[in-house]
Amino acid sequence: MTLAPVQAARSSAELISAETPVLAHNYHPLPVVVARAEGTWVEDVEGRRYLDLLAGYSALNFGHRHPDLIDAAHRQLDQLTLTSRAFHNDRLAGFAEGLARLTGLDMVLPMNTGAEAVESAVKVARKWAYEVKGVPADRATIVVADGNFHGRTTTIVSFSTDESARAGFGPFTPGFRVVPYNDLAALEAAIDETTAAVLLEPIQGEAGVVIPDDGYLTGVRDLTRRAGCLFIADEIQSGLGRTGRTLAVDHEGVRPDMLLLGKALGGGIVPVSAVVAGRDVLGVLRPGEHGSTFGGNPLSAAVGSAVVDLLATGEFQRRATDLGEVLRSGLEALTGKGVTGFRARGLWAGVDIDPALGTGRHVSELLMAEGVLVKDTHGSTIRIAPPLTITREELESALDALGRVLG
Ligand SMILES: Cc1ncc(COP(=O)(O)O)c(C=O)c1O
Repeated sequence: MTLAPVQAARSSAELISAETPVLAHNYHPLPVVVARAEGTWVEDVEGRRYLDLLAGYSALNFGHRHPDLIDAAHRQLDQLTLTSRAFHNDRLAGFAEGLARLTGLDMVLPMNTGAEAVESAVKVARKWAYEVKGVPADRATIVVADGNFHGRTTTIVSFSTDESARAGFGPFTPGFRVVPYNDLAALEAAIDETTAAVLLEPIQGEAGVVIPDDGYLTGVRDLTRRAGCLFIADEIQSGLGRTGRTLAVDHEGVRPDMLLLGKALGGGIVPVSAVVAGRDVLGVLRPGEHGSTFGGNPLSAAVGSAVVDLLATGEFQRRATDLGEVLRSGLEALTGKGVTGFRARGLWAGVDIDPALGTGRHVSELLMAEGVLVKDTHGSTIRIAPPLTITREELESALDALGRVLG
């Protein structure tokens, strides 16, 4: 028997060009090849260090390899990793109890990716509409917002308003109505007796950290309650400490009927998502109607429970609030000096760069050369979302780098 030769270490440039023929080209990554990471820092193949100001699109809210999360994962790897839901496992009850306590809701449907949580919520809302609300069979509608981003599956891109997410992927799933974001009158006009739910991001991340007016989420809550339909808040990116509260809806003291969590719920270690809802809503699912082989697996549940424990301390929400002020004042100082505007809440900002200075992509590449990783969203906007463990000094040095790049 001949053994495959051990791969010689390859440079960043070699690894990037090796990807081209063998990996689908569905991303356009920055030309950095990360090999190691800890906390706020990542290191490439050649040993160059970068401050990570993207944090896996908020999947790394607790930083890279947070010791409590790595410990929880290691301990679980030594015990049990997968049962499927054909059997019970000894970690799932505690995870669901913790998440219900953290969110103030009753029940949890564990899944893996964010898109799966959204798909699951669409199914649950439709079932609820037929069984509880009495909508005639196959007539249920769900109202969503212009500029939304909820994932990439066929049903989810069916209600995207981003042509690059949709073009070439039809035919689309019917049953969705799109209204302008942050417009209560338009929302009210779109809701009728067929409406199962309103599905919204409390802050639109992918659209460029678009924050609705104060009172919008309260208005959505009131409207949906009066109309007898569900309010589904997609907090897959906005939730779990990012905005300075456990949930972005907490800023208005609003409790949705269904809450969608993902990304940071897996601590940057495993994909973990969840639909969290009242018993009257998630109770519509019965055995055999929905599921996932990996959803609720013991490794995910162990890491997810450790995430819930970290958030229960309140430390990360406090850091996001306090350091959010540093981020805001740094961006205010750059406004008019290459920054044309920004939207920020907690440690999360969408920063519009003067198009005369280049695209968001170009600025991201310049920042990379300064040792800071961010990513563009649309056109000239970059998104800043560092791990919530970032220090004041690290954040200030990243803002200094942005100033140099724009100067
Ligand atoms: C608000 C929101 N919902 C859903 C998703 C999809 O999550 P995933 O990429 O894990 O499928 C994302 C991902 O960016 C998101 O930001």
